[in-house]
Amino acid sequence: MKDLYSSVAPFYSFLAKLVFGSSLVEAKLFHLEGRSLGKILIIGGGDGFDYLDLKHPKYGEFWEKSESMLLHAKKNLHETGLSFYLGDFADSAEVDFDEIWLHFVLDTLKDEEVTEFLETCRSKLSENGKIYLTDFYSPVTSKQKLIHKSMIRFFKVAAAYPRNKVPDYEKFLSEAGLIKTHEKKFKKGWIRSSVWKIRG
Ligand SMILES: C[S@@+](CC[C@H](N)C(=O)[O-])C[C@H]1O[C@@H](n2cnc3c(N)ncnc32)[C@H](O)[C@@H]1O
Repeated sequence: MKDLYSSVAPFYSFLAKLVFGSSLVEAKLFHLEGRSLGKILIIGGGDGFDYLDLKHPKYGEFWEKSESMLLHAKKNLHETGLSFYLGDFADSAEVDFDEIWLHFVLDTLKDEEVTEFLETCRSKLSENGKIYLTDFYSPVTSKQKLIHKSMIRFFKVAAAYPRNKVPDYEKFLSEAGLIKTHEKKFKKGWIRSSVWKIRG
């Protein structure tokens, strides 16, 4: 499997902080802080750096397709009870996760990959399990539009980023049989953090 993030992994979090300050970590942790966590499946958790701010014990599985990202994550999160795996989370034999963390991953997939990806996520959730999604939505202000376009250009070169605009998250998640229970908007809705459960 080609490591698409090998060139950016060493400075990924530094770059994110430089451009966004604490906004991305705030969005990622918004629905996770202040409650005990269940059995977690972290998909595409990157270098794991931002999860250090979360003080609760964490147990479950951390999957990364990028070996370089995974190496950083193992160092950053070595004190947690997480098990680390290199590869596609779909290869996990485990099911019945209480929570799946999907942070800035769906927007790295082609539309034709999103449906199967979300169906696999759903099959790994426990009956009352939840998906915690944080991602970029369409930029709102002119400055956001400029930054968003620059990010896409950068990641197309650095990590073979495949998209020109964000996916229609609501459509894909709804088609996968999921329903939104909470949403918090950041930066006028450019970044959103939401919680999804299986539609009853
Ligand atoms: C843009 S990075 C986001 C990293 C981190 N979640 C964050 O919030 O900064 C997306 C990551 O998802 C990983 N990824 C994409 N699809 C994956 C899959 N099916 N299984 C495991 N990792 C995946 C990529 O290797 C990449 O490191």
